[in-house]
Amino acid sequence: MAKRPYIVGNWKMHGTRSMLSEARAIDRAAERLMKAEVALAPPFTLLHAARKEADLIGIGAQDCHAAEGGAHTGDISAAMIRDAGAGFVILGHSERRADHGESDADIQAKAQAALAAGLNIIVCVGETEQERDAGKAEEIVTDQLVGSLPPCAESGEKVTVAYEPVWAIGTGRTPTVEDIAAMHGTIRGKLAEIYGDAAEEIRILYGGSVKPDNAAELLAVADVGGALVGGASLTADSFLGIVVAA
Ligand code: G3P
Repeated sequence: MAKRPYIVGNWKMHGTRSMLSEARAIDRAAERLMKAEVALAPPFTLLHAARKEADLIGIGAQDCHAAEGGAHTGDISAAMIRDAGAGFVILGHSERRADHGESDADIQAKAQAALAAGLNIIVCVGETEQERDAGKAEEIVTDQLVGSLPPCAESGEKVTVAYEPVWAIGTGRTPTVEDIAAMHGTIRGKLAEIYGDAAEEIRILYGGSVKPDNAAELLAVADVGGALVGGASLTADSFLGIVVAA
């Protein structure tokens, strides 16, 4: 558990080549901010160019297909992502679960394909506001973990989990630090059940309205191993504000 905090920017469907200057600025600054491990997940179209712009930070994708290749128009395989120079892929983001109807089983299949292709994975879980209000947040999140994570224990160090309450994404709202600590503790316990000792290698990121001004408080919560950042990762200034806080 002595790993550096992992700060990952998820650009979602934002970014044309003009935004590569932000990736370059983040990469240049990362050299003097080595206390954190920094990564960006730009859209597929920028993966290769971002890898060429940025030498130090991690570059990853936001999704992959579970198949190795074939007749899947518009889809991208894990091997293609690796070939573009990326080292990881975000899987099971709530926007993909909602927009594309991705099930836990779909995400687990993608996770296994990504690991087989040599990518690390960030698997996202998180409850809706309705589920939290109904007192079901922990049950939803642990079900998502069991259903979405690859079952093999030896994959522990290649796996990161991101807890992103759906109602905190892009809203400016965040859970209390007590609620985050409780959920991360629950996730840690479930990871230990799934992976045994290998679970200790797994970082649990918090995601949802992380900004430079709340990052220090959120990142100080027990068992928060970093942040998955959306809106505030789109400019070097705000993203580096979060990296500095880490
Ligand atoms: O994956 C990151 C994300 O969903 C959080 O987005 O804009 O609330 O930081 P945002």
